[in-house]
Amino acid sequence: MTKDEIKELAGRFREASPQEIVDYFVENFGNKIALSSSLSIEDQVLTEMVISNHPEAKIFTLDTGRLFPETYDLIDRTSKKYKFNLQVFFPEKEAVENLVNNKGINLFYDSVENRKECCRIRKIEPLKRAFAGLDAWICGLRAEQSITRKDIEVVEWDENNQLLKINPLAFWSEQKVWDYIKEKGIPYNPLHDKGYPSIGCQPCTRAIEAGEDIRAGRWWWENPETKECGLHKR
Ligand code: ADX
Ligand code: SF4
Repeated sequence: MTKDEIKELAGRFREASPQEIVDYFVENFGNKIALSSSLSIEDQVLTEMVISNHPEAKIFTLDTGRLFPETYDLIDRTSKKYKFNLQVFFPEKEAVENLVNNKGINLFYDSVENRKECCRIRKIEPLKRAFAGLDAWICGLRAEQSITRKDIEVVEWDENNQLLKINPLAFWSEQKVWDYIKEKGIPYNPLHDKGYPSIGCQPCTRAIEAGEDIRAGRWWWENPETKECGLHKR
């Protein structure tokens, strides 16, 4: 697909509803597209939208081995409620063993380099395997989430992964996401009710205080500019 064609699609779908976006791309890409879910509120909304109209569609999650117990429980509840096969990708065991044995079990607190190395092994490498055979991926990114995401489009070219990237919720507010969750009775992580708006790995996520940014609890010891795990390099 050319840059102009992608721009045209981004323009065409800018005003469309997330359900219309999901339907169009899942219908057109079939088994060449997958939803990448971290079980966030955005991904839960997208899971519902994907599965309700396309029960055979691919949805996967990356299990870093360091997720919250509540997240594992949500994986189970979601798979059972929607009766689909949520594909789980694990990191390579030797890479994790080497990392932990050389740098310590909680190496991520020691430097940005260590943190990125851990994300690379536990998320980026498994993500590459999840991408095998795909032409496009669907993500739960929203422009409001952070300064690193303010310019996202509904349809973009993901240069890093050489895939089309679809962000159906790019222009939804957090409130809209919650309204949809409540309206449809979609299961969500109970940590959201305990001060965790954005949830990643357990050691790298804390609750936020009133007035703090929604991603303030992710890698809270780092600067906002470095706070991406590399999944969404721009
Ligand atoms: S992160 O880069 O800070 O970790 P965030 O948690 O905001 O990302 O999630 C943004 C999107 O990235 C999610 O909506 C999802 O599409 C994808 N994503 C993030 N973490 C995972 C994961 N563990 N498994 C699958 N997809 C993920
Ligand atoms: Fe490792 Fe933390 Fe990245 Fe998870 S978020 S992969 S624990 S550095």
